[in-house]
Amino acid sequence: MRRPRFIAEQARCAEGPLGRFIAFVMARETWGHNLRAIEALDIRPGESVLDVGCGPGRSLAELARRAQGGRIVGADPSKLMARVATRRVRKFQAEIVVASAAALPFEDGAFDKALCVHVIYFWNDLEAAFREIARVLKPGGRLALLFRTSADEAAVRAFPAEVYRFHVLSDVVAPLEAAGFAVDVHDALRGEHNTPMLLIAAKRRASIPRQ
Ligand SMILES: C[S@@+](CC[C@H](N)C(=O)[O-])C[C@H]1O[C@@H](n2cnc3c(N)ncnc32)[C@H](O)[C@@H]1O
Repeated sequence: MRRPRFIAEQARCAEGPLGRFIAFVMARETWGHNLRAIEALDIRPGESVLDVGCGPGRSLAELARRAQGGRIVGADPSKLMARVATRRVRKFQAEIVVASAAALPFEDGAFDKALCVHVIYFWNDLEAAFREIARVLKPGGRLALLFRTSADEAAVRAFPAEVYRFHVLSDVVAPLEAAGFAVDVHDALRGEHNTPMLLIAAKRRASIPRQ
């Protein structure tokens, strides 16, 4: 079923009572995909992990459990999502910041790993966002990027194009590589049209200068 634009807008930037409801639904709908991204990152105790576009922050408890003693941070530009996530992480060690992928308020090399699940649809400039994520990762640091591509016809039909941009896979891989990542298409989700893509990208040790 096609989602109305005003609902899709809430997934891009949730606010008000409807946004609160969307946050509740999102935490259930995307959990399986978050778990796949987290598993693919092979998180170890003591690691620092950033969730870019963490939404309601359900990933953060699992990250804190796996990275015991490490630093867990969720970043999201929606103030409402940040509030929901902050409430969710009350009982364990995690930080939430209001920030978009293109401007992350962290020092260079702050994180060992990052994940970003169902977020790239809303970015105007993929390469700029990937460069910023690369900046805050350590050399060799890994990013798990999960998203639906334009090959997923059901998703393309269901979500309004004015809000959601579904990319051809190569249009995501190219800016990732330009931003300094070496990209691997994760086996578990390879080649199926109606399941999301999971890419694991490792930050190259020598940085690539901006053209
Ligand atoms: C579909 S939700 C997914 C949330 C979460 N990653 C999950 O899997 O449940 C998209 C999230 O991306 C956030 N978002 C939108 N634009 C963003 C941007 N430019 N940078 C980072 N996050 C963004 C939204 O606020 C929203 O929380």
